[in-house]
Amino acid sequence: MKRITIAEAAQHVGETVQIAGWLYNLRRSGKIIFPIVRDGTGIMQCVAIKTELPEPVFESLRRLTQESSLIVTGTVRAEQRAPGGYELDVKDAQIIQRVPESDPYPITPKPHGIDFLLDHRHLWIRSRRQHAILRIRHQVVRSIRNYLDDHGFTLVDTPIFTPAACEGTTTLFEVPYFDEGKVYLTQSGQLYNEATAMAFGKVYCFGPTFRAERSKTRRHLTEFWMVEPEMAYATLEDVKQLAEDLIVSVIRDVLTHRRQELETLERDISKLEAIDKPFPRLTYDEAIEILHRKGSQIVWGDDFGGTDETLLSEEFDRPVMVDRFPAKIKAFYFQPDPEQPDRVLGVDILAPEGYGEIVGGGQRIHDLDLLLKRLDEYGLPREAFDWYIDLRKYGTVPHAGFGLGIERFVAWICGVDHVRETIAFPRMLYRTRP
Ligand code: 4AD
Ligand code: MG
Repeated sequence: MKRITIAEAAQHVGETVQIAGWLYNLRRSGKIIFPIVRDGTGIMQCVAIKTELPEPVFESLRRLTQESSLIVTGTVRAEQRAPGGYELDVKDAQIIQRVPESDPYPITPKPHGIDFLLDHRHLWIRSRRQHAILRIRHQVVRSIRNYLDDHGFTLVDTPIFTPAACEGTTTLFEVPYFDEGKVYLTQSGQLYNEATAMAFGKVYCFGPTFRAERSKTRRHLTEFWMVEPEMAYATLEDVKQLAEDLIVSVIRDVLTHRRQELETLERDISKLEAIDKPFPRLTYDEAIEILHRKGSQIVWGDDFGGTDETLLSEEFDRPVMVDRFPAKIKAFYFQPDPEQPDRVLGVDILAPEGYGEIVGGGQRIHDLDLLLKRLDEYGLPREAFDWYIDLRKYGTVPHAGFGLGIERFVAWICGVDHVRETIAFPRMLYRTRP
């Protein structure tokens, strides 16, 4: 018997096939029952008629419980009114495991609180909405990789255990490490990207990153995924163009390949269709002006808070780029603006609709003496950065790159409120399980 996935149903109309999945829902109407089966690729309504099935098969289906596993054999029929467009006329069914009534599947169609759902995340990911979000996440990751691979970037993965801080010493997770004493979980692959960019020209790393931030907001995870491209012989402007092009290209791909999932999420698709180049560009000073006009209390020299980011992004229907931040609110590695040395050539990209900063990046210091000075000013030990300093001694060149946070990007694309739903198993201030 031919085994197909629900996603392949269209190619098998009229054929008798097997579908292996789980019971999503069951409607009963006397002598006909409608088991709705999901198999990871889709959801399909099956039609089982009492008079056309052996009694035990019909009975086992009729009494079946939510999320029981089963293999159904039947004939695929096009049915416009059915979700997904196809139905399966059941000829046979094999129950693999029946979920007992005494210990039923905990997530029922009735509403549950968020803590309950997060405690059952290992099961929650089966539900339609969570499934759609994670499928879109997969598409986003795939499109990012395709884009970078097609534009001459080499993937070079960077380490998770690191001896030094990239994004400030206050958000490091320490890990005991044999005789070395301790190492840290990486906050960003950037410093290593700078080394690999000098070896390969254009590179990227893509992996989990860690921040010990005591932030309990809808934009913060302690473990999140970041894609970080880095380019030798490149400037702040190159970074802006790359980020803009990458973001537009990923959104187009999601609109093409994951429209159904966006519809499941009831995403306002027109908002995504409107995303195009060029993105508006502001300086930090211009952004502060807009914020003051909109009633923010922010003082010049402060970093934007979450509310400021929301206020700013409300002004535009596409992502907005803010550059030339005061040096002292940014990390040690930023190249100063030659025209105003107390500003740096860094850029943040804020997503529309209040999703906040999705990209941070810019041009790096390439001058040896300036780098040494900055390490000292930021209280960073030169010994921990010896290899990073070497890059400024052996063929240093202007270079630039950025980091795009996957969960925030996916949250925006999906139109979901909180980044906790955009990763399979979120890690947050008060959550490390399941
Ligand atoms: O702006 P960040 O801190 O930049 C860097 O780490 C640079 N070293 C990247 C580079 O230039 N190669 O972080 C980049 C992005 C943010 O814009 C945001 O999207 C995401 O990472 N991010 C977080 N996402 C979820 N939870 C958190 N706690 C995050 N912190 C940063
Ligand atoms: Mg940032």
